[in-house]
Amino acid sequence: MSSVLRLAIVDPQDSARETLKTMLLGMDIVWLEAECSRYEFFADVVGQTQPDVGVISLDANPEKALALVENVRQIAPNCSLLVVSSSTDGQLILRAMRAGAKEYLNTPLNVEDLIHALHRIGNQGVAAGGKGRGCTVIAVGGATGGVGSTSVSVNLGCILAKQPGNTVALVDLDLSLGDADVFLDTIPDYTLVDVAQNITRLDFTLLKRSLTKHSSGLYLLPRPVQLQDTSLVTPNDFQRVLGLMKASFSHLILDLSKGYSELDMVALREATHVLLITQLDLPCLRNVVRLLMSFEEIDGLKDKVKIVVNRVGLDSQIGLKKAQDTIGRDIFWQIPNDYRVMVEVRNNGVPLIEHAPRSGIAQSFGGLADAVGGGEPQNSDEDRKSAAGRRWLNFWPAKGGKQLAEKE
Ligand SMILES: Nc1ncnc2c1ncn2[C@@H]1O[C@H](COP(=O)(O)OP(=O)(O)O)[C@@H](O)[C@H]1O
Ligand SMILES: [Mg+2]
Repeated sequence: MSSVLRLAIVDPQDSARETLKTMLLGMDIVWLEAECSRYEFFADVVGQTQPDVGVISLDANPEKALALVENVRQIAPNCSLLVVSSSTDGQLILRAMRAGAKEYLNTPLNVEDLIHALHRIGNQGVAAGGKGRGCTVIAVGGATGGVGSTSVSVNLGCILAKQPGNTVALVDLDLSLGDADVFLDTIPDYTLVDVAQNITRLDFTLLKRSLTKHSSGLYLLPRPVQLQDTSLVTPNDFQRVLGLMKASFSHLILDLSKGYSELDMVALREATHVLLITQLDLPCLRNVVRLLMSFEEIDGLKDKVKIVVNRVGLDSQIGLKKAQDTIGRDIFWQIPNDYRVMVEVRNNGVPLIEHAPRSGIAQSFGGLADAVGGGEPQNSDEDRKSAAGRRWLNFWPAKGGKQLAEKE
């Protein structure tokens, strides 16, 4: 996984520095390397800590601060400078940019602006061979109810969350009947409605506090409690929630509703990968064909879709070859049928990775997690197999080593 941006900040005004620090500390995309209360010392701090980004507040003394921007620019050309100030004076902004600032943000800082500025800096860094990181967004949709979308979302989420370096959140978009919280045996304090309605006031720390953390490390943002509340989440609000979450997590799993509502469409647009879960029966395959046709209307969406066949091995199913011919696409992944394990997993609210880590179905989920969890879409079978083999197998103890306990 790509790394976070390392930051150093300078602001002689204590309360403003604290506010900025609190905002930054909640962000997973940044690591606060150093803070400094004197302009005079900041160049040394940058020299010693070599941050990716230097944040310089102008307000305490704009002249001194601008001279510092120029100085740091020269002594540390690889450190991108982000200037913050309460001033909207065009001349001052121009001088800051000419002195070498990459970004200029007005205080009080807006979380979204800060995220976007850091992303721009991160992306430039990546383009120049430097640091930066993105979020892999995996939308999980189904060809009909009960095909296994939530089973895939939850188990994929828990597997990815267990991998070192990942921070993973699952959003339950089945606003009426979503049951991701049941799969994870959690009783959440807040829901998507709370987060969406408070999005302008949220920072990263508050966002994380609003989510429920499962023992696997997976964060859950569940559907609203009351049916009446479902209309309170607008596509616009949800887009902003996603923006904040994308900046906070390495992976987002979006368990779509079967209504393909406006919120689901936002999720589909934002997704890196869209897993379309189907089973090998006629109603499902017919819906897959219809969905793929509808997806053609949305730019780039069809190419992100990966067909995942669930419950392979059930009696009297349509053959895989015939299914591929019907939908005109390759099957990306197959998950075996294992009714007994899956019922236990659901009823006990324990994910596969904990309940039956060595079962065939858990291995299949592990392979899927590796095939889509790496960020870059893997298009060929070769890519997928090598990624799956490489990382999922590392999850198992080496031959002869201690075997993981299995509760089967
Ligand atoms: N591979 C599988 N083998 C056996 N049962 C499964 C499998 N995947 C899902 N199930 C079961 O199917 C039911 C519906 O799954 P669910 O994930 O809730 O579907 P959806 O979210 O698409 O409505 C659940 O009882 C689940 O345990
Ligand atoms: Mg579901």
